[in-house]
Amino acid sequence: MLGIVNKALVDLIRKQHGDETWQEVRRAAGVDDDIFLSGERYPDHVTYSLVSAASAVLDASPEALLESFGEHWIRFTAEEGYGALLGAIGDNLSGFLANLESFHTRVVMMLPNVEPPGFEATDIRPGAMRLHYRTSRPGLAPFVVGILRGLGIRFGERIEARLVESRELGADHDVFEVTWSDGAEPPLPGDRRDRRG
Ligand code: HEM
Repeated sequence: MLGIVNKALVDLIRKQHGDETWQEVRRAAGVDDDIFLSGERYPDHVTYSLVSAASAVLDASPEALLESFGEHWIRFTAEEGYGALLGAIGDNLSGFLANLESFHTRVVMMLPNVEPPGFEATDIRPGAMRLHYRTSRPGLAPFVVGILRGLGIRFGERIEARLVESRELGADHDVFEVTWSDGAEPPLPGDRRDRRG
């Protein structure tokens, strides 16, 4: 994955736990790099090793860590100069989600070496849709949940994403039932998306 992904993860660990903890995670992951270059490609296993080392060092499940990472991703990409890109495709959650399919096509224009995931919206109703997520990479569904939560915070709207079909359980790809309410209070920190059962 492009270095910007690892950079965002380092930023999250440093901001929340300090540089000492980041160094501990880096050593535990067996990663030499202390700094990642946004536009450079790194093997995916670097990102996966950092996530599992961070999960061990911070005593958090990889799923919980990936959710926080997804939430942070929206803040971080905005800070790194991609806020306009986020703003260009929608100025509220329903507008953004409706255009999510074409979103990474725009990302590829700005970061040409990306191997982006695919998103497809179906069963669109007022305040709800099914979001189909396709990727060659395993285990990143919680990252998507975190990103959607981050978008909810960005737009000041409540959003819930529930995994209803899982590739890990044999489905062809992951499918989320996403619901949102425009103008509602943003989700509280630690508010679990899977609470609706
Ligand atoms: C301006 C904001 C964004 C930028 C610049 C961006 C860029 C990227 C980059 C560089 C990667 C790594 C893939 C690679 O290097 O091959 C990535 C991965 C990913 N992005 Fe985005 N992205 C953004 C927003 C979003 C949004 C809104 C979603 C929607 C849910 C999303 C979903 C994902 C997922 C799930 C991955 C993990 C890789 C995979 O599934 O294969 N991203 N993105």
